[in-house]
Amino acid sequence: MKKLVLLSTTILITTLQSFILAAPTSTKPKHKWHRPGAKPEVSYSTHATDDSYHDYIAILSDKEVRPWSEIFDEIGFSTKGSKKMTHSMGVNSGGKPSYNMTSYGVNGIRTFGKNLRAFTINMKESEARALDGNPSIISLERTQMREWAVVAGSAKIMSSSPPVSQGVRNFDSKVSKRQDSMMWIQQGNAPWNLQRLSCAHKIDIKGRQATDLSYNYRFNQAAGKGVDVYVVDSGINVDHVEFQGRARMMFSYFGKVDDDVGHGTHCAGTIAALHYGVAKNVNIWGIKVGDSRGVNGEAIVAGIDAAITRHNQRKLQPGFMGSVISMSIGTAPPQQSDFMILRKAIEAGIHVSVAAMNSATDACNFSPGAFSQQIPIINVGAADINDTRAPFSNFGKCVDVYAPGVSIVSTFNNNATGIASLDGTSMACPAVTGIIADELIKNPKLRLDPAAMKKHILGRALKGAIKPDNVITGTELLINNGFPGDPQI
Ligand SMILES: *[C@@H]1O[C@H](CO)[C@@H](O)[C@H](O)[C@H]1NC(C)=O
Ligand SMILES: *[C@@H]1O[C@H](CO)[C@@H](O)[C@H](O)[C@H]1NC(C)=O
Ligand SMILES: *[C@@H]1O[C@H](CO)[C@@H](O)[C@H](O)[C@H]1NC(C)=O
Repeated sequence: MKKLVLLSTTILITTLQSFILAAPTSTKPKHKWHRPGAKPEVSYSTHATDDSYHDYIAILSDKEVRPWSEIFDEIGFSTKGSKKMTHSMGVNSGGKPSYNMTSYGVNGIRTFGKNLRAFTINMKESEARALDGNPSIISLERTQMREWAVVAGSAKIMSSSPPVSQGVRNFDSKVSKRQDSMMWIQQGNAPWNLQRLSCAHKIDIKGRQATDLSYNYRFNQAAGKGVDVYVVDSGINVDHVEFQGRARMMFSYFGKVDDDVGHGTHCAGTIAALHYGVAKNVNIWGIKVGDSRGVNGEAIVAGIDAAITRHNQRKLQPGFMGSVISMSIGTAPPQQSDFMILRKAIEAGIHVSVAAMNSATDACNFSPGAFSQQIPIINVGAADINDTRAPFSNFGKCVDVYAPGVSIVSTFNNNATGIASLDGTSMACPAVTGIIADELIKNPKLRLDPAAMKKHILGRALKGAIKPDNVITGTELLINNGFPGDPQI
């Protein structure tokens, strides 16, 4: 099988690699599609000898406002007279579907998008090449499946905690008042990752296992109350007792909304679960973009588009505290469609945390983390309980910060009280998501300012905490919520 690689992408990777080898670290690489208002630059490699059909995703220029039928007429795929169908992806507890895709009986065309307009199409490579330079289309690329940023085979299902008979127990906790009159809580039965977010020094393990639930977490009592967190993932086990009804599904690319993978429930738990979560009071909005067969690229664009729409409605409502997107998903190489939709999210004032992925290589080769250099998304690498970069974690200057990502205990999809330990930058990303939610309450001025929030978060991360365990350039920052010293045991 011939692999047809987009020339623009190939150039990017080649440029980046030679740049890394050759250039001093102060210069920024130029990703050609990142210039605001850049002209369409779609071109294809010419080494293909066949002209086979592939699926493509196209993003329209913001200036292109004509009806779809006119656009398809112009590019030679007239949809006139073809069968048109509406596919509902918005999950509502009643009322009209809140998100639709439309499919046509021509080349498998599907159209969607509110905050940007996009379509997918199955066409020949030569037909794609013919769209090169079309002013309506700002981005065109082959569709590509994505991966969960969890280490395969790392999942260990643990016995449920707390026992179901007791329902959700209260924390083993105490409430205290700081000198600055902030009320805070120390949770005494926490997983290690939560302690590490809220103390100044490496954890003294004292003979414990990393998966023991005997660590201490200190957090601001507000715990992200009212913040909307959009979990772009495999769905969420919303009936899990740990979510206390704060988790809801709002989008599914697949019709079904259950989490048949477990990944989304685990990530959502690290953000928001009562015992395993960083920000125990946030609202969780589930966006299902993948299932047991994999993660779909166009679903990511559509799902984030749906999140932006909801955010834009919510931000006009009383009680709005800010929005965060958590995305523990990615692939290599960087995908233009990821960039386009995440830039829209950032422009709308949504904070974004993403996983650096687990290939133990330069994070700049991965989507969406590479874009942390062009837009203020936060790209998160994984560390272990000894403050060492996890051997699997991507690294380099496209990682903004590390967070705990090895032996992370959180909620799972096996049943309503299930928990599991997982490894991956998938587990590190939601820790930063939770920290952003916490900071949104403490810093209302940053509510709609992702760039300032990123600066703030990186500014209070622990400097030099991550000791490189092999020759690696880039950040040595470890995420932190700013509590001084270490918890009292
Ligand atoms: C989605 O389609 C349904 C059925 O055609 C319609 O009632 C609904 O208003 C549409 N929703 C949006 C957001 O366009
Ligand atoms: C949920 O699964 C865990 C792990 O297999 C088990 O310990 C627990 O008893 C189960 N709980 C229920 C309610 O089925
Ligand atoms: C952390 O260090 C301890 C003590 O040196 C060691 O036993 C343990 O295996 C290390 N854990 C990890 C995850 O590397």
